[in-house]
Amino acid sequence: MFSIATAVGMLKLISRRGILVSMITVVLGGTSGLGAEIAGALRANGKETFVIGRSYDEQTHGAGMKIDLAQKADIKQLCEHLQSLGEDLNFYWVSGYGYQGDFAAQPSPETMAAVNFSNVLPVAQIAWRMMLAAEKTTHLVVISSTSGYKARKDEAVYAATKHAQTGFARSLGLEAERLHANCKVALFMPGGMQTPFWDNNRPVQYTEFLDPKKVATRVIDRVESQSEPFYEEIIERGSL
Ligand SMILES: NC(=O)c1ccc[n+]([C@@H]2O[C@H](COP(=O)([O-])OP(=O)(O)OC[C@H]3O[C@@H](n4cnc5c(N)ncnc54)[C@H](OP(=O)(O)O)[C@@H]3O)[C@@H](O)[C@H]2O)c1
Repeated sequence: MFSIATAVGMLKLISRRGILVSMITVVLGGTSGLGAEIAGALRANGKETFVIGRSYDEQTHGAGMKIDLAQKADIKQLCEHLQSLGEDLNFYWVSGYGYQGDFAAQPSPETMAAVNFSNVLPVAQIAWRMMLAAEKTTHLVVISSTSGYKARKDEAVYAATKHAQTGFARSLGLEAERLHANCKVALFMPGGMQTPFWDNNRPVQYTEFLDPKKVATRVIDRVESQSEPFYEEIIERGSL
C-alpha cells in the first residue's frame, strides 16, 4: 500500500513542478459491486485509479487503501492521504450499505447515517478543495439510488441517506456553476443492481436487477462527456 502511495505522491510532486501532469481517480467504495466495476473500467481505459473500502487488499484491488468509514480515525487517515496525492483528482462516491426492515428494529441507524453520508463529508470536502485547485477539469460523481428520490416502506434510514446524497450533489452542482469552477458534479440514481449489496437479503426480483458492469459503463460515458457543471440521471431497472 505504502509503496504505491509513495509512488503516486512522487508523481504528483513532479506534476506540481510542471514536469508531468497526471490525474488520479479515487473510487470510494471501489472494492466491490458497482465501485469495483467503475474502477475496473477506468483502469482498462488506462486511467490511474485508487480504490477505498473495508475489504481492500493490494493483490485483489490494485492501488488503494483499507478504510472503514465508520471509524473516525480512518476518516482522518484517508483525508490526510488524499491531500498527499496532489491536486488533479476525480472523486467517485460509490460507498454505502443497505438495510431492509422496520426502523424500530434497525441496529445502529446512526452508523448507517455516518457511513452512507456524514462521515464521507470531510473526505468529499478535501477532494472538492483539491478539485477546485486542479489544473484540469475534474469530476465529483455521487452514486445515490432510486431510494434517493422515492419513499420506501422498509428502508427509512437508507432512503434518508440517499436523499441526503441527492440534495448534496444537486446543491454542489449549483455551487460549481456559481463559482465557474473547472469541476463538474454528476449524480446517478440507479435502481436495483446485482451486487453483494444484497448478499444477506436477496430479493425475489434479484435476477431482474441491473448489471453493475452496464451501470458502470453508463456512468463513465456520461461523466466523460459531461459539458455542463451538473448532470443527473435516474437509471431505472430494465433500462440498460
Ligand atoms: N445494489 C443495489 O441494488 C443498489 C441500488 C441503488 C444504489 N446502490 C448504491 O450503490 C452503491 C454501491 O453499492 P453496491 O451495490 O455496489 O454494493 P456493494 O457491492 O456492497 O459495494 C459497496 C461498497 O461500499 C463500501 N463500503 C460499505 N461500507 C463501508 C465502510 N463502512 N467503510 C468503507 N467502505 C464501505 C464497500 O467496501 P467493502 O466491501 O470493502 O467494505 C463496497 O466497496 C451504494 O452507495 C449503494 O447504496 C445500490
